[in-house]
Amino acid sequence: MLEKINKLLEEVESFGASTKEQVEEYRIKWLSKKGEVSILFDDFKNVPSDLKKEVGQKLNLLKNKAQEKINELKEKFEAQQGADLKQNIDLTLPGFPTLQNGTRHPLSIVKNQIIDVFSRIGFTVSDGREIEDDWHNFTALNTPENHPARDMQDTFYVSLDPEMVLRTQTSSVQVHIMMNQKPPIRTISPGRVYRNEAISARAHCQFHQVEGLYIDEKVSFADLKQTLLYFSKEMFGADTKIRLRPSYFPFTEPSAEMDISCTICKGKGCNVCKYSGWVEILGCGMVDPQVLENCGIDSNKYKGFAFGMGIERITMLKYEVKDLRLFFENDVRFLKQFTSA
Ligand code: DAH
Repeated sequence: MLEKINKLLEEVESFGASTKEQVEEYRIKWLSKKGEVSILFDDFKNVPSDLKKEVGQKLNLLKNKAQEKINELKEKFEAQQGADLKQNIDLTLPGFPTLQNGTRHPLSIVKNQIIDVFSRIGFTVSDGREIEDDWHNFTALNTPENHPARDMQDTFYVSLDPEMVLRTQTSSVQVHIMMNQKPPIRTISPGRVYRNEAISARAHCQFHQVEGLYIDEKVSFADLKQTLLYFSKEMFGADTKIRLRPSYFPFTEPSAEMDISCTICKGKGCNVCKYSGWVEILGCGMVDPQVLENCGIDSNKYKGFAFGMGIERITMLKYEVKDLRLFFENDVRFLKQFTSA
């Protein structure tokens, strides 16, 4: 038996494999359950007891050497395989998978710009609700039932409850704010509104507005005008001019509509401004004292101004988008043209 062990030891020591498969072949030959080392261990019981010590030590030596040799060769082949792989990697190939970055929706870009401009002059941002009760959307804003001004906006009523509407204007948020906060109040409220309009390039049943509200003791029309001039210059460029035309809204007195000098032709006349040099962008006015009272604010002590603009309209002017429907179709070819700051 000693002889057999010595022969195997020699085989192990001189063994050098040229492939990974060869290493595995010899692992099975020497060290598997039915391998030569196991067989020798099985025969160990037949070794006479005076030789047991010597044979036992040699047998253990053989087992350890074989294991070492196999491990050493395995490592060698694995390292080589890793090196081969590395050599074959082309570091100039693009990463995988190539994920395409999305872009922010143009209406969100412009909404954020509007928020930015007004927050620089101290306006906070307030949220409202899209399903609104009739009182907040109309009555508190001086538009009681059967008031002719309700005809200005075609309303979606919630069929389960005729007292509830999809808000037609973000002016409804004014009412919540005035009822829940004490002046001074200086806030804007961006959000989605709904009107029962036929969908076309210039009208949609859903769109977005930003409402502005400023209530304090000495707020004047001059403050309103200056605020809107600042906004227009920040939004459309320093050479932008504004003009206010008298108008009517039930919740402001006096009321006005504001035009800016046409951003496309700079006032020279083009088909966007219908050759007038001006384009309308918002409605505004001094908050009607009755609206202040409706919302629990003392109209002898406080005054305020309000304004409301359509985000689609501002976006169409800024980016020269000619069809309102594009904003709601989510066609990536359209959306990809906008990059956000
Ligand atoms: N809510 C009006 C609309 O949707 C816009 C508006 C006009 C808002 C005048 C105002 C305002 O706050 O003062 O047509």
